[in-house]
Amino acid sequence: MSTVELQNVTKIFDKTVKALDDISFTVKDAEFFVLLGPTGAGKTTTLRAIAGLEKVDQGKILFDQEDVTTAQPAARDTAFVFQQYSLYPHYKVFDNLAFPLRSPLRKVPEEEINSKVNKIAEMLKISNKLNNKATELSGGEMQRVAIGRALVRDPNIYLMDEPLSSLDAKLRESLRVELKKIQLNLGATILYVTHDQAEATTMADQIGVLENGKIAQIGSPEEIYNNQILFM
Ligand SMILES: Nc1ncnc2c1ncn2[C@@H]1O[C@H](COP(=O)(O)OP(=O)(O)OP(=O)(O)O)[C@@H](O)[C@H]1O
Ligand SMILES: [Mg+2]
Repeated sequence: MSTVELQNVTKIFDKTVKALDDISFTVKDAEFFVLLGPTGAGKTTTLRAIAGLEKVDQGKILFDQEDVTTAQPAARDTAFVFQQYSLYPHYKVFDNLAFPLRSPLRKVPEEEINSKVNKIAEMLKISNKLNNKATELSGGEMQRVAIGRALVRDPNIYLMDEPLSSLDAKLRESLRVELKKIQLNLGATILYVTHDQAEATTMADQIGVLENGKIAQIGSPEEIYNNQILFM
């Protein structure tokens, strides 16, 4: 996976809305970086800019020191877990998980698809649901599949936009723990967005606090806790 760096990135919508205002931070290879901030802070815009789904107005985005600021999304090779889950409802869980590997650009052999899907399903504890259609799942299971669909790939970075926010407190907590374990296991580089301070503290190696499109603070969970930046 890759080190991902933002240098002085600014994004303005409709000529007036400064969604990102000169933000800079680095997500190191194999690091779990949490971007923490209230609604409207610019979290989703940051992820979309990194994925190449949003053009930035100023600044640079680098993957392993290589400038990708104007590169197309496919060339950046990121895996996105969206804020709202977006499964193919009539596909079985297996086929939802296999989908990113079946892209004509990738040409992964069926055997390898099979083994990857089974491995990820096991990690996410959904092996017994592989033959269910996506519509035949609980919300928590759907969200596991959405995360699994990113994890079957080996991209430069996983971009996760509040993937647990629609779940109840208990499930959210257990999935946090599982996701953290999986990340350590895979040595994955993750940029994870949340507005939940507890979630940030339990999962992050580094936290970046985002407020009004600006990075207010960056540090380890302890450093952020000790400084008690309160925005909620
Ligand atoms: N396509 C767009 N056109 C115009 N303004 C936009 C667009 N997308 C986002 N914005 C604005 O940019 C700002 C940041 O939005 P963003 O979606 O990044 O926030 P967020 O931190 O993800 O919030 P939430 O926690 O509610 O998901 C907001 O003021 C939003 O209204
Ligand atoms: Mg958002």
